[in-house]
Amino acid sequence: MNRWLIHGASQLLTLKGASDRPKRGKQMSELGIIEQGSLAIENERIFAVGSREEMEREVRLRWGGLDGVRVLNAAGKVVMPGLIDPHTHLVFAGTREYELEMRLNGRTYLEILQAGGGILATTAMTRSATEEELTEQTLKRLDRFLLHGVTTVEAKSGYGLTLQDELKQLRVARRVHEEHPVDVVSTFMGAHAIPEEYKHDPEEYVRLVIGEMIPRVAGEGLAEFCDVFCEKGVFSLEQTERILTEAKRWGLVPKLHADELEPMGGAELAARIGAISADHLLKVSDRGIRAMAEAGVVAVLLPGTAFFLMAPCARARDMLEAGVPVALSTDFNPGSSPTVSLPVIMNLACLNMKMTPAEVIAAATINSAHAIGKAGEIGSLEPGKQADILILDAPNYAHLSYHYGVNLTDSVFKKGELVVQ
Ligand code: NIG
Ligand code: FE
Repeated sequence: MNRWLIHGASQLLTLKGASDRPKRGKQMSELGIIEQGSLAIENERIFAVGSREEMEREVRLRWGGLDGVRVLNAAGKVVMPGLIDPHTHLVFAGTREYELEMRLNGRTYLEILQAGGGILATTAMTRSATEEELTEQTLKRLDRFLLHGVTTVEAKSGYGLTLQDELKQLRVARRVHEEHPVDVVSTFMGAHAIPEEYKHDPEEYVRLVIGEMIPRVAGEGLAEFCDVFCEKGVFSLEQTERILTEAKRWGLVPKLHADELEPMGGAELAARIGAISADHLLKVSDRGIRAMAEAGVVAVLLPGTAFFLMAPCARARDMLEAGVPVALSTDFNPGSSPTVSLPVIMNLACLNMKMTPAEVIAAATINSAHAIGKAGEIGSLEPGKQADILILDAPNYAHLSYHYGVNLTDSVFKKGELVVQ
């Protein structure tokens, strides 16, 4: 039997009480803090959570003492749920560092894509890579996520853009999920760009996504979600709606890259179609914000992408005030956000979007869990939940947003196992 007692943290952030619905408005600042908090793990799950004295009593009563229990002294540290990254483009080959200089010289992200670079450059490199090569590189990336306190990531396909290459990416995601401690939740994103071969007939590519890719991906159980890059010059609102409607018919839950570079009505579509999240939202309209609040669509904000593309951030405060549940993510990908550091994203959310240090913690834990439909299992420290736990070398949670660019991870538990120490 695997038993742990994590003892006497200066702050234990439970994030409790929001497993059914994501946090909104004022709830975002309520972290359910227990001072001198302790937590007991049995096998893969959280067994009990409470103050030091409560837990001493509990452990005596229910375990008959500390025999066979491993104890971790968390004095002076923060204990919190493992971070959850709900939006990454994890599986790809190659890098695009040269695009940074092109963008610094004034070329835009979409210009680079339309000239066959950007997503299409990564697509060419990913198509040539074998499943083995992709797996090896992806495992290395997951090691780095874990070192930054991330215990679950969502991963999108979308650098294959042929049936076989999309399946290849999704198989790699499934394989690394099985092999690596970090859990990987898969999203099919065949509609990430129009591939070169279909440049002159984008409609034909949309038909391929709808008619062949979605049925095959869903049929093989390779993804839970379906995402579309709904953007001017990429996939139109109408094409996005057709793709996501078909995805729903096959049991894939819709997500959207919405209103990133141009206001497109993506947020409104996310609300209308019952998407679990709408992501990016740099150019979201007021109507889109209201529609998301009413429908309870989670806004996954990606301030690292705005930073790296040198663009103004999403209007997080307007969304929070309107009652939209907000989550945060790296958007990890080789073009617009090549970072695995969710803590840095949390710093940027504070400094560039004026979210508070408490709000960003709710956004990167329980609300991120909601954005990938996993809040029943992860995202908070409550009895019965998976024991995915981050311990910070810091006396209070505000340090996470204060020491920018510094990794405060002290140790990490995944499913009750100490995987970083
Ligand atoms: O979320 N916006 C579209 N897709 C990614 C970027 C992918 C890439 O540039 O390789 C994003 O920013
Ligand atoms: Fe993205």
